[in-house]
Amino acid sequence: MTGNERRIHELRETRTLAAAELAALLATITPAEERQLYAAARAVREEHYGKEVYLRGLIEFTSHCRNDCLYCGLRRSNAHAERYRLTEEQILACCDEGHRLGFRTFVLQGGEDPAYADDTLCDLISRMRAAHPDCAVTLSIGERPRASYERYFAAGAERYLLRQETSNPWHYGKLHPVELSLANRKRCLYDLKDIGYQVGCGIMVGSPYQTWGHVVEDLLWMQEFRADMVGIGPFIPHRDTPFGNHAAGPIEDTLHLLGVIRLMLPEVLLPATTALGTIDPLGRERGLLAGANVVMPNLSPRDVRSKYLLYDGKICTGDEAAECRRCMERRVARVGYRVVEKRGDHPSWRDAA
Ligand code: SAM
Ligand code: SF4
Ligand code: FES
Repeated sequence: MTGNERRIHELRETRTLAAAELAALLATITPAEERQLYAAARAVREEHYGKEVYLRGLIEFTSHCRNDCLYCGLRRSNAHAERYRLTEEQILACCDEGHRLGFRTFVLQGGEDPAYADDTLCDLISRMRAAHPDCAVTLSIGERPRASYERYFAAGAERYLLRQETSNPWHYGKLHPVELSLANRKRCLYDLKDIGYQVGCGIMVGSPYQTWGHVVEDLLWMQEFRADMVGIGPFIPHRDTPFGNHAAGPIEDTLHLLGVIRLMLPEVLLPATTALGTIDPLGRERGLLAGANVVMPNLSPRDVRSKYLLYDGKICTGDEAAECRRCMERRVARVGYRVVEKRGDHPSWRDAA
């Protein structure tokens, strides 16, 4: 048995490894060992979810952002970014279409846009829940005060996606302007968990200045936090940002991490992300074969899609929601899995309900 075969076996059995062992695995895994990792990850995912893949309908409702994250095309300093906001009626129309297409989760994602005050968001969330009581609403709208998170939860939002981006304070400082802090990001994540949301965190793989040491800190923190969902995808440069000349994160590293995360958090909801599909035409399929069990087709109206550009080359910007939905069904089936029309909650949430 090679060192990495032993590490993969131990990870499968005990769900964790010492930091140095995790770093060694990620830094030196070979193609033969990677096949063993993916087989173990698929076996664990199938123990908990069988062959089912959950759909999340992504509604990118605003491209305005008050923040200036150095990696993101929506950052406020990007004067070339095209800005738009969807009205409540437009968002509700996306949900109606999504429901017809079999979506049972809607993800409201956007820049940090103060134009959507708490009252507006609460009204929107309750209208979404009233129109489609069999659907879950997920928010991905960045850092807000605890009292706001409490109000959205009371209005019917049950899940929240907020990537920590990195668990290392030095690295956080290299990716964000000084007014943003890892301490506040984590405050938000702990508040969300405490309120009762199913919470997703995550990182960009291969972001500028990232080391294996940072990634290992992320993995151990996600496990300690008991993340319900983990969103990871490769970093991809956007030409109008300070990181425009940095290389994209490698797909292999992203796939290895999906496999490792599945072994460390066996029940986690793990998407094969759009960024993965952007750096490799079969990236999402490869993600599913490495342990992912969620896909997030785009439900945004077609005329705004090309304006929500976090990075260059983003896929699905010219396609209708129905086309993405059909395309995704075929892609999932091709690798032996099955899209299901279910909410797809985390098992701990279903047990508590
Ligand atoms: N504004 C909210 C926030 O930051 O949490 C939600 C929207 S933000 C665009 C969603 C995610 O996009 C971020 O958490 C980040 O990881 C990812 N992202 C931004 N720029 C990216 C890039 N250049 N490459 C890959 N992912 C990127
Ligand atoms: Fe705004 Fe989110 Fe982009 Fe940061 S990552 S600039 S908060 S949209
Ligand atoms: Fe959007 Fe294939 S998933 S076109």
